[in-house]
Amino acid sequence: MIDYKNLAEQIKNKGINNPDIVLVLGSGLGFLADKTEGQTLNYHEIKGFPRPTVEGHGGKMVFTKIGDKKVLMFQGRFHYYEGYSMKEVIVIPRIAKLLGAKLYLVTNAAGGINPNFKPGDLMAITDHLNLMGTNPLIGKNDEIFGPRFPDMTDAYNPELRKKMIEVGKDLGIDLKTGIYAALTGPSYETPAEIKMLKTLGADAVGMSTVPEVIAARHSNLMVAGISCITNLAAGVSENPLSHQEVLETTEKVKYHFGKLIIKFIETVVL
Ligand code: HPA
Repeated sequence: MIDYKNLAEQIKNKGINNPDIVLVLGSGLGFLADKTEGQTLNYHEIKGFPRPTVEGHGGKMVFTKIGDKKVLMFQGRFHYYEGYSMKEVIVIPRIAKLLGAKLYLVTNAAGGINPNFKPGDLMAITDHLNLMGTNPLIGKNDEIFGPRFPDMTDAYNPELRKKMIEVGKDLGIDLKTGIYAALTGPSYETPAEIKMLKTLGADAVGMSTVPEVIAARHSNLMVAGISCITNLAAGVSENPLSHQEVLETTEKVKYHFGKLIIKFIETVVL
């Protein structure tokens, strides 16, 4: 069993506590933590902390100040497809709660299903479809975090999304909005699966985020999420999918993505 309290205590003992915002950086988006000055703590310095294995993810947190907000960035998350248990997959939101964060700000790389999307677009997540076939809250409920049957209406805070869209407008970024569907991966979807997801109402598809958001909302953290559309989903374009393409697109949108996140953090009222 993963001892979230012990992990949080170790982090507090390193002087990291009471962040206003926990920011999780998805595949290829970790550069923000690299270019940020702040206190760095590598995951391997925390006893019992899982370590990511996927290319494009580091494995560290950086504690910094952006505007008047204390921000704890996580470079590298834990995916179900890596073989981690769901309890490990939600280690970051659980720690966010125990450290006293208010906002859980998630980012990810995703395939675009909505025909109006193109690679490089950024999408504010409006809602999700949990198609992972499991739920991180299965098992005995820990009342310290939240109730047995947590509500998932407006899981992605509508006010914060409005704010994010405004910030995008100010910066000349046409922020898209849509529903994120999560599958376990690690194989990309078949064209038939993408057709199915489209029918189900999904605008984008990925392999992360949803378990974290369920855990974050369980413990009443506010949530906002952005997907970087790194590729057109299988069958939407003729091209085969590759992680290389995902990383190449995130490389191209770094500048916009970084600006949007920073300005949002600077100007949001929590
Ligand atoms: N499918 C699933 N996950 C992804 C994709 C995709 O097309 N692109 C980036 N992550």
